[in-house]
Amino acid sequence: MRTLFLSAAAIALLVSSAHAADAGNGKTIFARCAICHTVKKGGPNGLGPNLFGVAGRKSASAPGFMYSGALKNSGITWTNDKLKSWITAPARLVPGTKMAFGGISNPKQADDVVAYLGSLK
Ligand code: HEC
Repeated sequence: MRTLFLSAAAIALLVSSAHAADAGNGKTIFARCAICHTVKKGGPNGLGPNLFGVAGRKSASAPGFMYSGALKNSGITWTNDKLKSWITAPARLVPGTKMAFGGISNPKQADDVVAYLGSLK
């Protein structure tokens, strides 16, 4: 009986941790993005724009970066939902974007990257 109770608790814990986005893990995954993006405040743009403070800001607004017309005209504000769609499949959210990245199809990994981006402030 006691074992049964404990394993139920363990399962509940596992389920809840599977749903909580993990910014630390997102940072690890972000290594795939860091070849193009810097994240420090005032950091330089690279192949992609600097992403400090990107969560909540209007798309295509990093100073000095030459965005595609597609992203400039998208009218997107980077909410968590939009960031998740973007990370999952950039060219599906914004056809014609010049971000040459296929996307991260694993929803948990995408959530973790969104949580990491949200911590850049
Ligand atoms: C091969 C280089 C490259 C890689 C890898 C890459 N990006 Fe990008 N990223 C870009 C470029 C270029 C743009 C600008 C797109 C445009 O103008 O259409 C961009 C734009 C963005 C934007 C929008 C920024 C804004 O100011 O509106 C976000 C957010 C972003 N990338 C996040 C990521 C994340 C997260 C990853 C990794 C999962 C990633 N990128 C991987 C090149 C890259």
